[in-house]
Amino acid sequence: MSSSPETAVQRIGVPKESYAGEKRVATVPEVVEKLVKLGFQVSVQAGAGEAANFSDDAYRAAGADIAPDAAALWAAADIVLKVRPPTPEEVGLLREGALLIDFIWPAQNPELMQQLAARKATVLAIDCLPRTLSRAQKMDALTSTAGVSGYRAVIEAANAFGRFFNGQITAAGKVPPAKVFIAGAGVAGLAAIGTAANLGAIVRANDTRAEVADQVKSLGGEFVKVDYEEEGSGGGGYAKVMSEGFQAAQRQMYAEQVKDADIVITTALIPGKPAPKLITAEMVQSMKPGSVIVDMAAEQGGNCELTVPGEAVVRHGVTVIGYTDLASRLAKQSSTLYATNLLRLLEELCKAKDGRAVVNMEDDAIRGLTVVKDGAITWPAPPLQQAPAPAPKAATAPVEQKKGGHGHGSSGPLPAKTLALLFAVAAVAFWFIGAYAPAAFLGHFTVFVLACFIGYMVVWNVTPALHTPLMSVTNAISSIIAIGALVQIAPPGAGVNGRPDGLIQWLAFAALVLTAVNMFGGFAVTRRMLDMFRK
Ligand code: NAI
Repeated sequence: MSSSPETAVQRIGVPKESYAGEKRVATVPEVVEKLVKLGFQVSVQAGAGEAANFSDDAYRAAGADIAPDAAALWAAADIVLKVRPPTPEEVGLLREGALLIDFIWPAQNPELMQQLAARKATVLAIDCLPRTLSRAQKMDALTSTAGVSGYRAVIEAANAFGRFFNGQITAAGKVPPAKVFIAGAGVAGLAAIGTAANLGAIVRANDTRAEVADQVKSLGGEFVKVDYEEEGSGGGGYAKVMSEGFQAAQRQMYAEQVKDADIVITTALIPGKPAPKLITAEMVQSMKPGSVIVDMAAEQGGNCELTVPGEAVVRHGVTVIGYTDLASRLAKQSSTLYATNLLRLLEELCKAKDGRAVVNMEDDAIRGLTVVKDGAITWPAPPLQQAPAPAPKAATAPVEQKKGGHGHGSSGPLPAKTLALLFAVAAVAFWFIGAYAPAAFLGHFTVFVLACFIGYMVVWNVTPALHTPLMSVTNAISSIIAIGALVQIAPPGAGVNGRPDGLIQWLAFAALVLTAVNMFGGFAVTRRMLDMFRK
């Protein structure tokens, strides 16, 4: 059934997850069809998709065959797709030289890494994907899992909360909207902000990385800043451990926000570090009875002092939810997204569509993912060559900030000497143009310089997130050149005898049609893009 020769088609095996309570499955029927199109054979263990509502028959109909048990499945598979890291028994079932694609968490599981290496396996740890590579985003299973979990965290909170999320005016009285505070606006936090705002709650959020403020706003939340100036970005889209001074200021702000909130969802995490304790027992006590805390970082020790990992407990009248299986609680959705991430990875591994996966260590994304190659541990991958991150600001207390748009760009203001030199050169150039250029040119040139200045000021003061719609609207406005075409079709004062050249008229007509497309298309595209920012 399986292959060993170099050219034979490989068999992908998808076992039933053995971790207690895990409902997800690593592939779904609609993805099986696509794997078959890539040339692979696919086997799924009997009942593997049952808990996520995918029947064996659905897998069969999509082109997979059903292996009766784990032993049969693992024995036949050249490539194994899984969700949870394999148990020692499962590693024992993995064929020598096989390829395993799975969540592995190598830093937390050194023993597992040794066992996998001893099997002479090749292992791609989906949690090790270099997330900053934009090409790799389609394979980013951490992001899709966190997105589903952030959504589910809000649903769990809503389930435990005794009121509506949205404000309502009913015959029976006025209901105020729920107040939701979200700590940490990474992937899970942003998903939670969007979900809670869509349900009608007032959402506030905080993160140590100031750059997420715009994303929080665009999802309908309000970003609450800690009153202490310190750059929180540790590179690669992750945070760093903050100074003592910052932490004290943050605790004070959190105490106020938590007291005011009905629901708190915490997602704060720095990879490889225990979760920062942001919500103290005192803060929980200050909340109104019936309030809810969902601590998504429960598995890493929790952001709240009173969290019990894996459980929902009531403390001081507040429900503290520490579930560690939020993605599994939405098994159909998370399995479908995970299966699609793995399909995109397999497309990269099997570019020839010949049913054979090739692990190309020259490819940055694949290199990052590969933690064991033919029995040799290759984790951690060397750091990616990237554009240098912006220089961190010193961790000092309140820094004076210049208003007026100067500090927006990535490059700082020019030094005074360079600026003076630039002005001098520009002044001489102007004098030269004024003295020698024809009068008509000077008029046009002045308009050109002013237009550049106004354009610069307009673009500079628009939020970066809105630059794309801005470009399309300026594109539409640039169609003002249509006036030129109109003038050419019927020049002012052109009577019966002074008709313009026929060719010019046709060219002007063509220009008019094209600018009309640009004009109406530009406005239509802008409208559609702006709609994406509206609720
Ligand atoms: P992420 O790394 O994208 O986001 C974490 C955010 O926390 C970052 O934006 C970071 O800047 C911020 N942060 C770090 N320290 C902070 C501090 N002291 N104060 C405020 N913000 C701080 O991670 P992601 O993917 O959003 O996951 C968030 C958490 O949810 C993680 O703990 C993850 O393990 C957990 N998770 C839990 C699941 C569950 O079933 N309970 C499922 C999926 C994820």
